[in-house]
Amino acid sequence: MILTIPKLFPKLQVRALRARLGAAEWTDGRVTAGHQSAQTKNNSQIPESDPIAREVGEMILGALGQNPLFRSAALPLKVFPPLFNRYAGGQTFGTHVDNSLRTHAETGGRLRTDLSCTLFFSEPEEYDGGELVIEDTYGAKSVKLPAGDMILYPATSLHHVTPVTRGARVSSFFWLQSTIRQDAHRTLLFDLDTAIQQVAASSDPAMAASAVKLTGVYHNLIRQWAEL
Ligand code: NI
Repeated sequence: MILTIPKLFPKLQVRALRARLGAAEWTDGRVTAGHQSAQTKNNSQIPESDPIAREVGEMILGALGQNPLFRSAALPLKVFPPLFNRYAGGQTFGTHVDNSLRTHAETGGRLRTDLSCTLFFSEPEEYDGGELVIEDTYGAKSVKLPAGDMILYPATSLHHVTPVTRGARVSSFFWLQSTIRQDAHRTLLFDLDTAIQQVAASSDPAMAASAVKLTGVYHNLIRQWAEL
């Protein structure tokens, strides 16, 4: 499942956060790339240890924790502290797959990357190129979202970022380990949860009883599939 989480941050806040990122120390993005992806990656990043990266990262994690759509779609177990990148002057990231396992240099925390996230800090009209192109079983999907919106996609996907030929594209990217390992199971649970919310919103008492039963099915499926 590839899903947009709209308006994780309102516009004023996303602008303030981006200004904050502008004050950070930016370095070569190859530091977090694996062997294969280092050969196709050309961008700038803020080091994991940078206090501004940590501060803005904490705000992202806080916003995600309060976002019902994200929680329903991702069923997160562990979220990697957000990283930040910038593409400008023709920079690009060729086709690659993200590393399956990640260890955070600061905390030593480890996780399996089930889902990849990109949160956009630049408005689409500020730059040319910079599309995130994700390949899935239905073909390639090109993603370029308004500032403050985030895309959630399976970390198993091949993906690339097209060259930024004008302006700059600033974003945050990170991974998470889901309680539900398989994308197909996660998608079923998300669809079921979405349908339950609709049924539960009905004023019909029979629908309310159905919502209770379906909620039972939802939780019993999680019991079948959850890994903690
Ligand atoms: Ni990637």
